[in-house]
Amino acid sequence: MTNQSTQILDGDAESGINLAIQNLRDNLLIGLPTETVYGLAALASSRLAIAKIFKVKERPTNHPLILHLASYADLDKWTVNVPDYARTLCNAIWPGPLTVILQRSKNVCDEITGFRETVAVRVPNHRVALKLLNSLNDGLVAPSANRFGKVSPTTAQHVVDDLGSDVSLVLDGGVCSVGVESTILDCTLSTPQILRYGAVTTEQIKSICEIDIDLSTGESRASGMLEKHYAPKCRVELAETSDQAQTILNSLIENGLTARVLDYSSDVIFYAQELYASLRRADSLNIDVVVAVMPPNYGLGVAIRDRLTKASTATH
Ligand code: TXA
Ligand code: MG
Repeated sequence: MTNQSTQILDGDAESGINLAIQNLRDNLLIGLPTETVYGLAALASSRLAIAKIFKVKERPTNHPLILHLASYADLDKWTVNVPDYARTLCNAIWPGPLTVILQRSKNVCDEITGFRETVAVRVPNHRVALKLLNSLNDGLVAPSANRFGKVSPTTAQHVVDDLGSDVSLVLDGGVCSVGVESTILDCTLSTPQILRYGAVTTEQIKSICEIDIDLSTGESRASGMLEKHYAPKCRVELAETSDQAQTILNSLIENGLTARVLDYSSDVIFYAQELYASLRRADSLNIDVVVAVMPPNYGLGVAIRDRLTKASTATH
């Protein structure tokens, strides 16, 4: 695979958006900036392009895709039987890093959902993604633009590094402002359940609509719930404090390993923004072990702990 033919285009330029539209209509895949991570996008109506997503990502077809919409107003085109609390939530948070699982309408093709009767939808909060979505009379399906099980991309260059010429072009929208994937809330159950933690927190959801939320992870219906996920090449070891990280670091170095400490636990917003880039940097420097200091277990810290824990349990 070569990176030669993949262009990174300015997502704020009209010419970039126009070429992206043309490529999507030609059933090609593009790299799309969102506020969470970069996506590998295809038109929701292009079965051919959707099949390519699974091939390029080396992703099992029973891991369905998130459908990205231009606005809350598009919700009823793609979903049915939306509970009132889900409407309230989406209306309040979109555009933003919340994905909801709802019953699908007949406009959603089987390839998107892996033949399930439910579909995952969200409106991304990124000017380039919204500009593109507003120029299409269609949705965009987009998983994170990395190979299955690996670390998600948070810059346009990460997408090219991972997928090379498997993407026709990447729209550059800068560094993702959130840095971890969206919160996924299953709204098809009598008590909604969080399937993946993200920047929209349980506290925030509860404050918007007075509902109980099932916090148990239940069966692994979101691939991000799988143990072996978010896996860099390096080993990740966890520490609860900076002092503990230093002790672990010293012993690793004594044992002849190259190691780095990842410690932004005093600023969770920055931690989330930097998390995947830091792990990628460690890999490009052939670091053996990253010792990550876990942030406090609330708010955005919950999502960071979740990704770090999964990265640390990945087997190589
Ligand atoms: O922040 C994000 O959500 C990013 C950006 C690009 O929008 N996208 C993303 O997509 O993380 P992906 O494919 O890497 O993760 C989507 C997750 C998967 O774990 C998938 O199994 C789950 O959503 N999912 C999708 N449809 C589902 C459904 N109908 N029921 C349950 N889980 C579903
Ligand atoms: Mg992913």
